Formats: sequence, structure tokens, C-alpha cells
Amino acid sequence: STLSFDTSKLADFVGEEELSMMQPMVTAADELLRKGTGVGAEFTDWLHLPTEYDKDEFARIKAAAKKIQSNSKVLVVIGIGGSYLGARAAIDFLNDYFNNYYGDDERDFPQVLFAGNSIAPAYLNSLIKVIGDRDFSVNIISKSGTTTEPAIAFRVFKQLLEEKYGTEGARERIFATTDAHRGSLKTLADTEGYEEFVVPDGVGGRFSVLTAVGLLPIATAGGDIDQLMAGAAAGEQTYADADLTKNPAYQYAAYRNILYRKGYTTELLINYDPTLVQFGEWWKQLQGESEGKDGKGIFPASGNFSTDLHSFGQYIQEGRRNIFETMVRVTEPVSDVVIPTMDADDGLGYLQGENMSYVNRTASEGTVLAHVDGGVPNMIVEIDKQNEFALGQMIYFFEVAVGISGYLNGINPFNQPGVEAYKRNMFGLLGKPGYEELTESLKARL
Ligand code: PA5
Repeated sequence: STLSFDTSKLADFVGEEELSMMQPMVTAADELLRKGTGVGAEFTDWLHLPTEYDKDEFARIKAAAKKIQSNSKVLVVIGIGGSYLGARAAIDFLNDYFNNYYGDDERDFPQVLFAGNSIAPAYLNSLIKVIGDRDFSVNIISKSGTTTEPAIAFRVFKQLLEEKYGTEGARERIFATTDAHRGSLKTLADTEGYEEFVVPDGVGGRFSVLTAVGLLPIATAGGDIDQLMAGAAAGEQTYADADLTKNPAYQYAAYRNILYRKGYTTELLINYDPTLVQFGEWWKQLQGESEGKDGKGIFPASGNFSTDLHSFGQYIQEGRRNIFETMVRVTEPVSDVVIPTMDADDGLGYLQGENMSYVNRTASEGTVLAHVDGGVPNMIVEIDKQNEFALGQMIYFFEVAVGISGYLNGINPFNQPGVEAYKRNMFGLLGKPGYEELTESLKARL
């Protein structure tokens, strides 16, 4: 298989019988998920997305990507949370790390830049500066169509496009990904005549990377979305068995639950390659928004190694013992560097002529053992290649695992009621119509 799951380094923390004792609970969770009898079942259409997706829309996505590639040097992807993290993770993973720094002549595909994922004005100004007078298009992505951050950014870029290309020209360069029926963005897109793509009803933001939400930006950046879906379809097939001995994704969910019950309440997703940093960001939303509710849940964080071994690595090794790690590792490096031979003695003579990838992998092995010795349980998810197929399978692995994991912990893994609290306060303080009472009470507290 493309993906392997190694739990051998849990031996000091979890007894063999503990996993099999989880089987009845996992069987129940599997039923809740697959029979649609669990809470939140109306948001589980991602389960069969890799095989049951809208093929006509998929073809339109490819055509739109081609169009953007032919008329734009930059695609600005506007969205927040589930409406950008997956695309960003995939694009970083599938491209050279510095791809976005190359000049237009050195790049085969448009530069993809992200906006609307913060409210920082200087970020937006500098993004506009980096586009300069180059041709660009915009993909505005919002399932609800009402989220403030992307709505503000979209106003800015809509205006810029209209100034540059006129109303008609701008229309040709705006692609709206939103709900099929509802929301302000849907209404606006209908009125203005933008090309529209759909976030399916039964797919929540954090599970939407394999819909147009992720696929259009990924395809525009040159990603092979057929292979991405094929990998996810392999995941759908591989991780469907309720039998724990046969399903690595379910094993991952069960082990997380076992560890959580033992007091390991923080999980670090570890990588050894900067192209996986954004995958960690995507994963944090998937885990945190799915599981952090009702006063429960594992806190998801990430570790970018070996970088962070020189910062909070100290904490992991010797701090409070409530952490476990899941490493994501790619077997075959995308490229390699041979450590140069040198006459002068810099203490590295023993490594000259070796590949950097060998040193990186060895660093990961040494770190796992050190952390295990320090009392940090470790699991390893390893994919063979850094390509679309493996990414698709890994995405599905983590998605199905969090569904099972959430049900094991007795929560609804598919809602996110908690994200509304800050929005209400922001609306109250900004004086949005309908929030008048809140405005007064909040202002009094500031
Ligand atoms: O997963 C979620 O539901 C959220 O993180 C949303 O993706 C995020 O709030 C953006 O929402 P929307 O796509 O409606 O603009």
C-alpha cells in the first residue's frame, strides 16, 4: 500500500490487549458513521466523495483551471478555515517549497496566493503589491457565503479586477465556490454571473478539500486531481473494514482514544519537511474542530522538525507528560543533496558523501527513540511518495479516523458550534444590525 502505519513505538505505553478491547466500541462507532445513525450524520457525505462526486463539475474544474492558467499569472484564493487550508496544504506538498518565489518565466503554472484568512490589512496590501500589474484571477470560497474575513478580501479584489478589466472582464476572472442554494455569495454570484462551483450540503468545511474547494486551486497550481481522487478512493476502499486488525485508520483512532484516556491530551503532528507544514495546519483544523467540544478532546498541535527540536523540543523531551506524537513521513525524497567533501575539519567528515535525506530520516529515527524514552508515545504514518495519489490516501486516512475517533469520545465530530462565539462578539462590537444589545454589554466589558 501507499501508506503504512507503524505503532511499534507504542509498546511502552499501550498493552497489546488494549487495542482489541477497543473493538466493540470501534464497531459501534463504525456503525454510527456508516449507517448514518450517529449525531451529525447529515455531514458525512465526504465518506464516499472519492467515488461519488459530480463528474460534470469535476470536468468544469479542470476547464476553469486551464482557463486561469492561460490568462493569469496569479490566482488569489480567498477563503478561511476549511475553505483554504486543504488547498494550501496540498499545493505546498505537491510543489517545490520556493515555487511561489520563482519568476513567472520559471514557473509552469500560476502563482497561487491566499487571502481572506486573516483580517490583517498590511498582509492584503503586500499581496496586492506582489501581484503588481500581472494578470490575475480570483477564486472566492465560502460554504456559508457569509464569512466576514473572505467577504472583506473579496470586496477589495473584486474592485481591483473591475478597475483592471472592466465589469465584463472581471466576471471572466472570478470563480465562486459556495453552497448550491443559500448564502450571500451564492446570490452575488448568480447576480454577477460568475462561474460557480459547489460545496456539497453534506460536506463540512474541514472535510471539503476533495471538492471544488480544494480541487480548483490545486488543479490551477498544476496538481493532478485525478490522481488525488484516485488516492482518496484507495483510502475509501482500504479504510472501510470495522475490524481493527485490518484497518490502520481505525487503529489510529483507537490508539488515540486509548492514549487520551491515559492522560495524553495533546497530539503533535510531526513532519521533517517544510512542504508538510501546511498539512499540519489542515490537520489541526480537522482534529480540533471535530473533537474539541463538550469539555473534551485531544488538543491538536504540530511540530516542524528538526526546526522545532531546537525550540520546544526541550518541552517534548522533558516537560509535562501529556503529549503524544504522530509523525508523517515520506519514504522517497523528492530530490536529494549529497553532503560535500571538504578538506577543512568542520566535524562533519563522517557524513561527507552521504545524502541529506539519509541524515533527515536518521534524525527522525533518533528523535522517535529519544521521545519514547522521555515518555512520549509515538506513531508513524508513512507514505511512499510525495505525490497526489499518496496525499489523497493520507487525507482520507485522517478524515475517516477523526470520524471514528469523535464517536469513540462521545461527541458530534461534524459540527462546530464553538466557532460562532467570537463571530457574535465581533459583530456586536462592530455594530452589525441585529446585534445592538450585545454591543452595549460587550463595550461595557472592554
Ligand atoms: O470547518 C468549518 O466549518 C469552518 O472552519 C469554515 O470552514 C470556516 O469558518 C469558513 O466558512 P465558510 O466556508 O462558510 O466561509
